[in-house]
Amino acid sequence: SITWESPSNIAAVKYWGKHGVQLPMNPSVSMTLSQSKTILHFNYRDTKGSAPSFEFFFEDKPRPDFGERIRLFLRRMEADIPFLKKLDIRIETRNTFPHSAGIASSASSMSALALALASLEKEMEGETPEGGLFLQRASHISRLASGSACRSVYPGWALWGKNEVVPEGSDEYAVPVNHILHSAFGKMYDAVLIVNPGKKQVSSSAGHAVMNGHPFRESRIAQANENTGRFMKALQNNTMPLFIDVVENEALSLHGLMLSSQPGFFLLHPNTLRIIEKIRQKREQTGWEMCFTLDAGPNVHLLYPESLREQVSGFIAVELLPLCAEGQWIDDFTGKGPARL
Ligand code: DP6
Repeated sequence: SITWESPSNIAAVKYWGKHGVQLPMNPSVSMTLSQSKTILHFNYRDTKGSAPSFEFFFEDKPRPDFGERIRLFLRRMEADIPFLKKLDIRIETRNTFPHSAGIASSASSMSALALALASLEKEMEGETPEGGLFLQRASHISRLASGSACRSVYPGWALWGKNEVVPEGSDEYAVPVNHILHSAFGKMYDAVLIVNPGKKQVSSSAGHAVMNGHPFRESRIAQANENTGRFMKALQNNTMPLFIDVVENEALSLHGLMLSSQPGFFLLHPNTLRIIEKIRQKREQTGWEMCFTLDAGPNVHLLYPESLREQVSGFIAVELLPLCAEGQWIDDFTGKGPARL
C-alpha cells in the first residue's frame, strides 16, 4: 500500500484550453495550497494471472461513480506503466475539505494518485523513491490525469507550459519557480469564499473544449503569455500592483471567455459579483494590497499577503462571510507540497 497526501492549487494565470494528449493551450502559474488536500491510499496486489480488479472508495464508501474517471485513466496509463495490467487495485481517498464545498478536487486527488503511481514505478524498479526527477515524473503523470494537477506536486509556486520567461518551462510537466520569488511570497493567504457549494455546472473538459474554435483563441494565447511574463516579474520584484492587475485580469478573462463561447457559460452568482465589488471598494479605501481570483465556478478566492492577516480577517468576517453559503469558507495559505505518509 502506498499513501500520499496532496494539495489543491489556485491559479493566478489560468490554464484554459488544451490540445493533443492533455497539452495546454497556454502557460499557467499557480500557488500550491496547504489546507485543501486529498489523502489517497493506493492498495495493490499481484493478480497472479487472473483478470485485474479495480475498486474505488471515497470517505470509506464504495463510489464507482467517482472511480470511473480514475479507472479509465489507469487503463490509459497501462501503455506507459505496463505492470498496472497485472495488479488488483483498491484506491481509498478522502479530502480535508467538504466534498460539497464546490472546490475543484481534481488537482489534489489526481496529483495524489500520480504520486502513488510514480512511487509504485520506483518500487517496481527497485530504486529509492522520491529522489532525482521523481517530482517531475509525478507532475507528468498528474498532467495526463488532470491538467491543473501537474502544478500541485511542488511546494509554493509552480509554472506549467512553454513560455519565454522561464526557460525550463514545459508543456509536459510543471516546474517549481520558488527560486525566482521575492521572499514576500513565501506565505500568502487564500481565503476561499464558498458562494455556492453545489457541484460544478460545467465539467472542466467541456470548459476547455470551448476554446477550440473560440473567436478569441489567438488573442487569449497572446494574453496568457504576456500575463505569465508580467506575473513572474511581479513575483520576482514583489510588485503587488502588478500582481493584483494580472490576477484579476486572468480571473475576469477566464469568465469572459466562457461568456463569449458557444454555448455561453455563465457560472457566476450574484454574490460572486457582490464579493468582488466589496474587495475592490475596500482596496480603494484602505490601500490594502489584496485581490480576488476565480476558478470555473462562482466561489471567490481572496489572495492577500501575511502582513495584512489581521485586518483582512476582520474584513472577511464582517463583510464577506454574510455573502457566503451558510458562511462557509476555507482559510488557506501557501503550502509545502505533497507528502508521502
Ligand atoms: C479554471 O485541470 O480541472 O481551474 O485538465 O480537464 O482536468 P482538466 O482540467 P482542470 O482545469 C482547471 C482550469 C482552471 C484554471 C487552472 O487551474 O489553471
